[in-house]
Amino acid sequence: MQEKYFIVTYGCQMNVHESEKIAGILHELGYVEGERLEDADIIVFNTCCIRENAENHAFGNIGALKKLKKSKPELLIAVGGCMTQEKGKTDVLKKKFPFIDIMFGTLNLERLGELILRKKAQKKKVIEIQEKEGEIIEFAGAYRTSYPNAWVNIMYGCNNFCSYCIVPYVRGRERSRKPENIVNEVQSLVAEGYKEITLLGQNVNSYGSDGKTGMTFAELLDAVASIEGDFRLRFMTSHPKDFNEDVVKVMQKHRKICRLVHLPVQSGSNAVLRAMNRRYTRERYLEEIKMLKEYFPEAEVTSDIIVGFPGETEEDYLQTEELVKEVDFASAFTFVYSSRQGTKAAEMEEQIPEEVQKDRIMRLVELVNSLTRKKSEKYVGKTVEILCEDYDKKKGLYLGRDEFGRMGYFSSEQDVIGKFVDLHITKANGISLFGEIVRVKE
Ligand code: SAH
Ligand code: SF4
Ligand code: F3S
Repeated sequence: MQEKYFIVTYGCQMNVHESEKIAGILHELGYVEGERLEDADIIVFNTCCIRENAENHAFGNIGALKKLKKSKPELLIAVGGCMTQEKGKTDVLKKKFPFIDIMFGTLNLERLGELILRKKAQKKKVIEIQEKEGEIIEFAGAYRTSYPNAWVNIMYGCNNFCSYCIVPYVRGRERSRKPENIVNEVQSLVAEGYKEITLLGQNVNSYGSDGKTGMTFAELLDAVASIEGDFRLRFMTSHPKDFNEDVVKVMQKHRKICRLVHLPVQSGSNAVLRAMNRRYTRERYLEEIKMLKEYFPEAEVTSDIIVGFPGETEEDYLQTEELVKEVDFASAFTFVYSSRQGTKAAEMEEQIPEEVQKDRIMRLVELVNSLTRKKSEKYVGKTVEILCEDYDKKKGLYLGRDEFGRMGYFSSEQDVIGKFVDLHITKANGISLFGEIVRVKE
């Protein structure tokens, strides 16, 4: 019988895609995907450390395996991702969970196969964390699980050192993939039938700024969008300090590129933005939105927002509310600031009390939800193009997203996963839309 694997993923899209790469490595070793944690022969945790609760979540789930490992000593437990890459964290993990067999980092993910083989040949645990990023290693064979969507890294790492953020410490400096490798990967994905491609990077707009690729992000986007075929193209994340008109001009040239930009503002207060080391102002941000809407009045913007950053006053917070209303985000991820060891912000004096943070996040969530709801209601009666992604067994409905990332549910006699369908929206419920199929694009 073939051995089974089970991967537990935390964190961002980058990690979700990296878990597909981990799955690719495991398939190469002869493992097959297991359905339940309890049946697995190897369990891999792909961790995140962006906020304290992400870490606690992983700690809890790893800890819960103690019993299983005891009753099944041949079970391999591997822990990788951003948390293991954090300074000193492998020691903490080793102490807390002595039953972990393998630890690897974000910078040597491609070596996991070798580490597993090594562990199988020895009793001792295998811990290998690479401290510094090396050249990009291209390895094929991600085992993709999200058809018709596919993620493609265009770069790794981050150079920005926003004062609250741990990513530059656990992902290394920015490295851009070669344009021909990216274009080839997207070409094969489109040939395989993938219908939505998302280009991934912590700050896609600074693609190529190391001077090694010979291309800017706008040029890369143009090259990828020029690939023939019926697919949608997205990119994530844009950093307001680097987002520019060149990119918007490329968007105008290609209808394939969704008119949705994820442009995290983080705060609406210039004082807070400065302390965050974001290197743009509220005014600059609003100018960019204006520019985008001049090209596409229908364009939508989504954001990440942090409340309770050290030193944030009520006045600062209210400026964030004002900005949220002014931009009218399609949706936004909202976070309470979480202090991360080793970052500049963790050293700042005026940390905000928890009850103040809680109060602000509640108000902000309410505001963001009300905007999203209002937008949903405007959909009713309209017909939108949805890319069907899945079937929800519980609801008995198919689901998919429109160009702006809005989720639409509908029933269908035929299996339409991976197809573009026109959906007449009959009902809106919070962030979800419900509708009837008008046409299936073959
Ligand atoms: N590179 C992306 C974001 C990656 S992290 C960008 O610059 O926008 C995703 C989001 O997590 C960030 O946008 C930020 O809003 C949030 N985040 C990062 N560090 C955080 C912290 N210490 N506390 C709370 N939220 C944080
Ligand atoms: Fe973190 Fe800033 Fe880099 Fe985004 S751009 S990953 S928030 S340091
Ligand atoms: Fe992503 Fe979390 Fe790492 S957000 S980059 S998995 S710290």
